[in-house]
Amino acid sequence: CGIVGYVGPRNAADVLLDGLRRLEYRGYDSAGLAVRGAEGVQVVKELGKVADLARVVQERQMSGNLGVGHTRWATHGGVTEVNAHPHCDGCGRFALVHNGIVENYLDLREDLENRGVAFVSQTDSEVVVQLLAQIHQGDMLTTLVDLQKRLRGSFALVILCHDDPDGFYCVRRGSPLVLGVNDQEGLCASDVPALLPYTREVLYLEEGEIAEIRRGSARIWDQEGHPVDRKPVQVDWDVAMAEKDGFPHYMAKEIHEQGAVLRSTLKGRLTEQGVDLSEELDWSGEFVRSLKQVHLVACGTSYYAALVAERVLEQWTDLDVRVDIASEYRYRQVRVTPQTLAVFVSQSGETADTLAAQRKVRSLGARCLAVTNVRGATLAREVHDRLLLKAGPEIGVAATKTFMGQMATLYLLALKLGWDRGTLNPAEAERLAAALIQLPYQVERTLEREEQVRRVAEKYSKYDNFLYLGRGISFPVALEGALKLKEISYVHAEAYAAGEMKHGPIALLEPDVPVMTVMPRDSLYEKSLSNLQEAKARRSPLVAVATDGDDLVTRHVDDVLRIPWSDEVFSPFLSVIPLQQFAYHVARFRGREIDQPRNLAKSVTVE
Ligand code: G6P
Repeated sequence: CGIVGYVGPRNAADVLLDGLRRLEYRGYDSAGLAVRGAEGVQVVKELGKVADLARVVQERQMSGNLGVGHTRWATHGGVTEVNAHPHCDGCGRFALVHNGIVENYLDLREDLENRGVAFVSQTDSEVVVQLLAQIHQGDMLTTLVDLQKRLRGSFALVILCHDDPDGFYCVRRGSPLVLGVNDQEGLCASDVPALLPYTREVLYLEEGEIAEIRRGSARIWDQEGHPVDRKPVQVDWDVAMAEKDGFPHYMAKEIHEQGAVLRSTLKGRLTEQGVDLSEELDWSGEFVRSLKQVHLVACGTSYYAALVAERVLEQWTDLDVRVDIASEYRYRQVRVTPQTLAVFVSQSGETADTLAAQRKVRSLGARCLAVTNVRGATLAREVHDRLLLKAGPEIGVAATKTFMGQMATLYLLALKLGWDRGTLNPAEAERLAAALIQLPYQVERTLEREEQVRRVAEKYSKYDNFLYLGRGISFPVALEGALKLKEISYVHAEAYAAGEMKHGPIALLEPDVPVMTVMPRDSLYEKSLSNLQEAKARRSPLVAVATDGDDLVTRHVDDVLRIPWSDEVFSPFLSVIPLQQFAYHVARFRGREIDQPRNLAKSVTVE
C-alpha cells in the first residue's frame, strides 16, 4: 500500500492525489483521502485507481490544508469501498491510513466488540483506529506509545485527529515511512517519490518510532516516547527521474534506460585495472580471504538476478554459493558463521520476507550485505554492508532496469571476491573488467532492435501458453522472461532448464504452445539446439534469442530475436532485453495495464 500525509498552505487534496499517483505502484485496487477543511474532516474512498478517486474529489470540491491519503493493495478484507482507507472510529475523532498487517486484529476486534464497538469493515486497519479511539486520553504521544504495545505485526500508520487542525501523527513498525519537511510544509509518505516535488531532504522513521508533523517541523520519539534527534538525508533522485519522459509507460522508459543504469552502476567502481568498492565496503583482505560461503537471498526478479550471480560467483571464486527465495530461507535450518557472506538482493529494500531473512542470519552471526536501489531503505539500514544499484527510481511494477543494476552490482562483487581471493588470475580479471566496461554499449545496441521484437510479439500475442527454456547462465534469464510475460500480459508462461523439458513439460507441447529458447552462442549452445529439436518434433512454434551471425539457429526455429555477441558470462545482460520487450509488446497488443498489472504491488511489505 502507499500512504501520504500533508499539512501546509496548499490544497491538501491536490498534494495527496499527486503523492498517491507517484506511489500507485505500491497498490491500486482502491484509494481514499481524508481532508480537514473548515467543516471538519471529509473522507472519500473509491474502488480502482487514483484517477477514479481524483474524479470524485473534484466533484466534491474538497478543500483544506491537512490530510492523509492511501492507495491499497488488499490483504485483510476484499476490495470494497468500505474496506478502502482512510478508516475512522465510530465517534469521528480520528481518521487513519495503514500499510501492513496487524496480526492480533481478531482478538482485538472481539475485545472491542464486547465493549460495544461497532465495525463497518473487515479490515485490521479499522480495528487499529477503533482501538486508538478507545485508549485515547488526551495526550497523543502517550496514546501512541500505548497503542503500539497492543499491536502485533507490521504497520505504518498515519493519523489525523479531528480536534487538531495543524498536524498529523505517524507510527512505524515494519512498514516504511519517510518524512519530508520544508519551511512551510510537512509531509510523510511510504516512499521517496511522493516527497520529491516538495523536498529532497528526507527523514527516515526507524522501527517503533512515532512522529508528529506540522508545517515546517517534524518531531520524532522512540517507541517508549523518548525524543529522537534525526538528521535529514539528501536524496539523489529528482522529480524528473520519477516521470515517464515522453514514453507511453514507465516500463518502456525503464527498459530504455538500461544502458545508462549499467553505466552509473559501474561508474567509479570499475576501471580497466580492477574493481574498487572501497567507498562502500571497508573489508580487509584478510576478511575477504576468510570467507567460506556466499548465500544470496531475494524474491521475484531479484531472486533471478541472484541466480545469475550464483553462476558467476561459482566461476570466479572458490566460495560455496547458495541461492534461496527469502520466504523459504527465513524458515529453514540454515547454517551460517562469521565466514558466511549473506547477500540480500532487493530493489526496494522493503520486502518483508527479505528483511526477515536478513534479521535471522544476522543474529546467527553471518556478515550481511544489502544490494538495493534505495539508499535509506530498511534493508540498507539494518545490514553490515550495502551496495547501491544506482538505477534511479523504478516505477513500473514489473522490474526491468533494477534487474540490470542488480546483475551489474553482483558481478562487481564477484569480480572483487575473485580478485582479492586470488581465484581469478590477474590477466583474466583484467579481461573481464574490460568486457564489463563495454557492456553498456552492447546493451544500447540490443535496445535499438526493439522493432524486431515488436513484430514477433504481434505474431505471438494471441497464444495463451508459453514455455521458456534456457541452459546454464541462460536458465535464470528464461525464468525472468517468463515472469515478465506472466506479470504484465497475464499469459501463462513456464520456464524450465532446457535439459529438464523431457522430464515433464514436454507433455504440454503442441502447436499452440510456443517455445522461447534463450540460446546465445555459448558452451551449451549445441545442447540447447538438441532440446529445440525435441520441441520442434512436437510442432511447437519456436522462437530463439540468439547471437548475431548464428545462421544455424535460423534453420531450426520460426523466429529469432537477435542479440550482439558477448562473452558467455555476460550474455544475460543482453538476452534479457528482447524478453522484457517481448513481454511489454505482448501486453500492449493484449491491451493490458502495463505499469500496474492486476493483483501485484511493487514492494511487498507484508509476509
Ligand atoms: C514484488 C515486485 C517484483 C519484485 C519483488 C521483489 O513482487 O512486483 O517486481 O521483483 O517484489 O522486490 P524487491 O524490492 O525485494 O526486489
